[in-house]
Amino acid sequence: MKLFNFLKPKSYLGIDIGTSAIKIVQLSHARDTFRVEQYGEITFFSKEAPMEVYQQSSLKMPDEQVAELVRKILHESKVTATKAAMSLPVFSSFSTIIELPPMPKDEMEKAIQFEARQYVPIPISEVSLDSLVLGEERKQQQEENHAGREEAEDQGWRADPRAQKSKKLEILLIAVPNEIKKKYEHIAQLAGLELTALEMETFPLARAMLKGNPTVTAVVDIGARSTDICIADGGVVRISHNFEFSGVDITKAYGEFAKLDYVEAEKRKKVTGLNLTPGQLLGAAGLLAIIDDIINETERITHSYFNKTGRMVTRVVLAGGVSRMPGLLEQFRERFSSLPADAVSIGNPFSGLVYPRELEKILQEIGPSFAVAVGLAMRR
Ligand SMILES: Nc1ncnc2c1ncn2[C@@H]1O[C@H](COP(=O)(O)OP(=O)(O)OP(=O)(O)O)[C@@H](O)[C@H]1O
Ligand SMILES: [Mg+2]
Repeated sequence: MKLFNFLKPKSYLGIDIGTSAIKIVQLSHARDTFRVEQYGEITFFSKEAPMEVYQQSSLKMPDEQVAELVRKILHESKVTATKAAMSLPVFSSFSTIIELPPMPKDEMEKAIQFEARQYVPIPISEVSLDSLVLGEERKQQQEENHAGREEAEDQGWRADPRAQKSKKLEILLIAVPNEIKKKYEHIAQLAGLELTALEMETFPLARAMLKGNPTVTAVVDIGARSTDICIADGGVVRISHNFEFSGVDITKAYGEFAKLDYVEAEKRKKVTGLNLTPGQLLGAAGLLAIIDDIINETERITHSYFNKTGRMVTRVVLAGGVSRMPGLLEQFRERFSSLPADAVSIGNPFSGLVYPRELEKILQEIGPSFAVAVGLAMRR
């Protein structure tokens, strides 16, 4: 019966191809509510050769192999959607915020192309450009609003609306190398899917974790191969940063000090984490140095955002598999002790979504690793 098809909620699929696993989430959307329909994960981890798998980025894996895994997880999770959004690792694309004076649309397109040449380190003919007008430049806007208000009050007039013309527009610029875009289109095609969007992973990450909350927030996604840190302000990601230290390094360091092979170290890290005895702590300098590096980097980015914009990060949300490591949240809270403890938390991308009650516990547990996939499926 097709007549009432428009009443049927639409399903959206998000696919996060990470270094250690592929995660998929299917959500349906109706009347401002997202319902969790399916979710699933398939890990690249193999008992025989865990390191070999981890050492190569999933970007370097043959498309056929990745597509085969995607097909498998879609089948196992009983996914019905045929259109999907996928994420890109931060290091594979470029994003920046530029400022331009207001101008007609066709001129704006040319100006964006021109500006992009300065920011994108590869020839512009080899990338797909995307841009989004965020609004008026913040600092200037605040200053002018303030000055305008004072002046208007002095003179008993409202600020002259023509003054708006001098304001600059902030434009989010994203460039994805054509080669990478083609690769993901190929993977989708081989997996029997239509690729509807390709997003740098910090965008879906923030979408799922913040759900539009405008607070200045640092979202830290600590995955298997790398850590992504982004600052979202006004609900928009304004800085994305990626660095190498992450879950695999933590497992290696754990193995070294606890004298365990990789597979055992991986298990122990998840159970004991940083809850070590004073004796163990003495020998765990390598492990603690990695944790320190991750927290230092988060602190550095938040300071740099403050220095640039005068806006203070007042919330830290952790994501990625490593955020679940026992004792890690406490380390972050200690370092960000100027913030209330509950302003530093492990995010749950499923919160605010509708799902069967019996899934509550499991979704809360796996949530941090599924943030990117949830955010992709929330895209519409
Ligand atoms: N409870 C836990 N304690 C500590 N580490 C954990 C825990 N659960 C998962 N991890 C680690 O999290 C990592 C996987 O996280 P995640 O699924 O976010 O990675 P990924 O998305 O595949 O990687 P990347 O984003 O770097 O490509 C692995 O290194 C795993 O050991
Ligand atoms: Mg990831």
